[in-house]
Amino acid sequence: MITNDILYIGVNDRDIDLFEGQYVVPEGISYNSYLILDEKTAVMDTVDHHKKEEYLANLEKALDGRRPDYLVVSHVEPDHASSVRALLDKYPDTRLVGNTKTFQMLSLYFDLDLSGAVTVKEGDVLSLGKHQLHFTMAPMVHWPEVMFTYDSYEKVLFSADAFGKFGALDAEEDWLCEARRYYFNIVGKFGMPVQTVLKKAAALDIQIICPLHGPVLKENLDFYLEKYQIWSSYQPETEGVFIAYASLHGNTAAAAKKLADILIQKGCPRVEIADLAREDMAESLENAFRYSKVVLAASSYNGGVMPFMEDFLHHLKAKNYQKRTIALIENGSWAPSAVRTMSELLSQMNGITIIEPSVTIRGCMKEEDMAALEEMAAGLLQPLD
Ligand code: FEO
Repeated sequence: MITNDILYIGVNDRDIDLFEGQYVVPEGISYNSYLILDEKTAVMDTVDHHKKEEYLANLEKALDGRRPDYLVVSHVEPDHASSVRALLDKYPDTRLVGNTKTFQMLSLYFDLDLSGAVTVKEGDVLSLGKHQLHFTMAPMVHWPEVMFTYDSYEKVLFSADAFGKFGALDAEEDWLCEARRYYFNIVGKFGMPVQTVLKKAAALDIQIICPLHGPVLKENLDFYLEKYQIWSSYQPETEGVFIAYASLHGNTAAAAKKLADILIQKGCPRVEIADLAREDMAESLENAFRYSKVVLAASSYNGGVMPFMEDFLHHLKAKNYQKRTIALIENGSWAPSAVRTMSELLSQMNGITIIEPSVTIRGCMKEEDMAALEEMAAGLLQPLD
């Protein structure tokens, strides 16, 4: 129960191996859905169809003999809307509520009779009795049809994917780490649309946030809003250095670890290091956004850069990575090419500053390389402008 009138009817999915076919979710994920009980009843989104039986049982129990009058579809992505058909089959008199794009996109997945559907636009209000549902469009947070719903009676914001996290609701983990990995990998590309919707949210008196994944947020809401403000404006969240390396024979890894040691010795507030061949790519991407400075260390490979690093840079570009200060380390036994290739890929991103000089190691580290790493560490510890 969220409030006296708003009930949680979502499900945990611990059977899933990859969310969106690509992100590891060792603690599963929740698909959240809510039921508002008033003179009229409204269901807020459904769940992934793999869990539809459990979901429909939750809904039936919560309805306690009533029927859903409305089904508000905030987001058509199948993790939320692929049980719409099942709900309508069970409760055919339920009226769908969405915007014009919602219904265009729902029709891509289902053959639906939309004659009774309620089409809403920015600022429209649907009265359930005491509960007044105010609709606000949130395009590209995370798909174009996404909308938020604000219940002005209980001051509840139904925020679609925003403020969600990976992890089932019974996972014993705090919100921040998996919310951050979720944000940058799912919504990270869309900073501007998130900023737009945060401005709209700032005008509302919000007491509870009900996202489509992860826990309902009832306390300390400024904390979550501030994190979204930082993330969506592409500002660093944590002062420190993230070192990502891709190493063929361990020598580049050794240089990366040596640099980490130097940074720690010199008092760097926080250093995190990841082997791109083994670390979850989504976690490394999250850390690249999180930290104020980043070091990319890679072996040269076939006249370019080791593929794990190239892949990482493509992921960063795809997520609109920007506004960061980066240092580069390469290794090359006869024709070092990693720095050139990494620089080319970074030049396709906005607001990237490369700390000069980059470090080139030939084979294994030598005494002169230590001096170069010391110089790089000093550059990394310079405050940002
Ligand atoms: Fe949770 Fe964009 O779907």
